[in-house]
Amino acid sequence: MQRIDAREYFSGEFDLPGDKSITHRAVMLNSGADGEAIVSNALMGEDCLSTCRCMRALGAKIDVDGTTMRVRGTPKFQSGVELDCGNSGTTIRLLTGFVSGKGIEAKLYGDESLSARPMKRVSDPLSLLGANVKTTDGHAPVYVSPAVLHGADISLSISSAQVKSAAILAGLSAGGETRVSEPVKSRDHTERMLAAMGANICVDGNSVTVKRSELRATDVCVPSDISSAAYFMALGALKGKTLCKNVGVNSTRTGILSAFDKLGVRYSLLNKRVSAGEETADILVEKSPMRAIELGYQDVPAMIDELPLIALLCAFADGESRITGAKELRVKESDRIRTTAELIRNLGGECEELPDGFVIRGKKSLRGGTIDSYLDHRIAMTGAIGLLASQNGGYVARPECCAISFPDFFKKLDVKNG
Ligand code: S3P
Repeated sequence: MQRIDAREYFSGEFDLPGDKSITHRAVMLNSGADGEAIVSNALMGEDCLSTCRCMRALGAKIDVDGTTMRVRGTPKFQSGVELDCGNSGTTIRLLTGFVSGKGIEAKLYGDESLSARPMKRVSDPLSLLGANVKTTDGHAPVYVSPAVLHGADISLSISSAQVKSAAILAGLSAGGETRVSEPVKSRDHTERMLAAMGANICVDGNSVTVKRSELRATDVCVPSDISSAAYFMALGALKGKTLCKNVGVNSTRTGILSAFDKLGVRYSLLNKRVSAGEETADILVEKSPMRAIELGYQDVPAMIDELPLIALLCAFADGESRITGAKELRVKESDRIRTTAELIRNLGGECEELPDGFVIRGKKSLRGGTIDSYLDHRIAMTGAIGLLASQNGGYVARPECCAISFPDFFKKLDVKNG
């Protein structure tokens, strides 16, 4: 149990951990590239360590020193490997695609939560490319066998960067052209990094075209993760003033800022710059009265991991908010529609589940209480923010799962400010 005290005021400047999505890709792609690359400000969360473990098993050499990784790639992967992806959906989904055209046998598996998450959404598009990928009743373990891949035109019915990336990474080993399109554009870190590594890739709106390519090892300086910064940005909005430094603000990730615009949260982006093809900025957020909002299907991909936190902000906003088009939340590390609604109710708020979202009736203040993480890192951290902003504070049960994406989250939260 982690005790969280209520606070009247919260302010400070924060350096946040490296971006999870970009760290995964920097390690995975450089592991399959020719040469050596330095990945700096890498996230040392458990999910990214799962990617390191898998890439080492495939033959890459990865040395870690603090938050810097030296990755020596191996264009030819080891065959007959068992790849333990832990809790990480990004690892298992991207890697299934990446290895599917590499002429190897591999088993990819993970923990209980990962084994409950859908994998047919990955194996189906890969089979259109000729890949030999078998799931276990649509789930992990997943078995990949050698196959000669050919290009295809793949039209995805969901917007998922993990699924899109799996198809793109398989397309790197396919003869002919692979075209992947999605209904609403999801995060595009794979596309950006592949372009920087010399891949034959072209992006046109929501479609990506890729041809067989060799990758050139490329250094990556990872920006801080907006999905981790979001918790401290929310505290600024609720309780004072926060400055989150060097945060990645790639437009496929800044849905939380669009939600802030609707809620009426005052913020500004300072020091804007571009590093390794990704925009970054310092984000200053100030306490603001918030009004109810509506969010729908088009809004969801750019804020997918922040939706539990945005729902929590709605619980403090004036009026009734409605979030729909988010049924993907049901297949995350927990069923985040159910766990977020319970979290808000356990804090003393009002939240109703919809099949694809929530209705939240805002209150001026929430009581506090005990909330469970359901072993989902984003639920643990959202609960902690809710408790800190509540009247009485309370406890987060099973808080250790924060280490998946933000190992020193509670330490950072404890900074005594103001
Ligand atoms: C991710 C994509 C998203 C996101 C996850 C990371 C990625 O998942 O929720 O935390 O790095 O590609 P989906 O592709 O399932 O939407």
